[in-house]
Amino acid sequence: MKDYLIAPSILSADFARLGEEVDRVLDAGADVVHFDVMDNHYVPNLTIGPMVCKALRDYGVQAPIDVHLMVKPVDSLVPEFAKAGASIITFHPEASDHIDRTLSLIKEHGCQAGLVLNPATSLRYLDYVMDKLDVILLMSVNPGFGGQSFIPSTLNKLREVRRRINDSGRDIRLEIDGGVKVDNIREIAEAGADMFVAGSAIFGKPDYKAVIEQMRNELAQ
Ligand code: DX5
Ligand code: ZN
Repeated sequence: MKDYLIAPSILSADFARLGEEVDRVLDAGADVVHFDVMDNHYVPNLTIGPMVCKALRDYGVQAPIDVHLMVKPVDSLVPEFAKAGASIITFHPEASDHIDRTLSLIKEHGCQAGLVLNPATSLRYLDYVMDKLDVILLMSVNPGFGGQSFIPSTLNKLREVRRRINDSGRDIRLEIDGGVKVDNIREIAEAGADMFVAGSAIFGKPDYKAVIEQMRNELAQ
């Protein structure tokens, strides 16, 4: 596994050309495809579901697909996304009545599992489930839209979660999502993140390869 993973969020891609956009961003050096699922209920926006995930697999996408569920309830979509080719499935604990059960469900379906914590969501949700987590995703914006600014208090939260992961001795990815750009990715990595979602920073520029290379250069400093 690479030390740092770059996961472009297709929320900012051109949906009319989604397959080509995903090919382009993977050819540009991305590691993972970040797939934002919004239901106009848990978050005030509506995006894409398992059919689109399957369509990307049928189109030939081989890279890991990181499904970020911003939906309530969660459980019924887990088998659907597993069948559709998801590699990682993360969800917001407030959106599930039985967090431990949802994590087990994801793993039973052969996917990696993770919790997503919003900027003001307590870390206590991690307390009793560290042994079931493959990924912890910290939101550095309020979920629902691309193109928002990174909320600086997330840096301290990242440091705290990095401590907890190190103390656990487990191999858990620490993913960050929202407002990640070339000019802040290094500071975010120094605070402990090792998987970086970036939507507008990558898809908002004509040359995806140049942005991803700049991000990797920052991470190599
Ligand atoms: C927001 C989504 C993000 C979003 C990030 O709710 O979860 O993945 O696409 O977009 P940027 O990188 O533009 O903040
Ligand atoms: Zn996301």
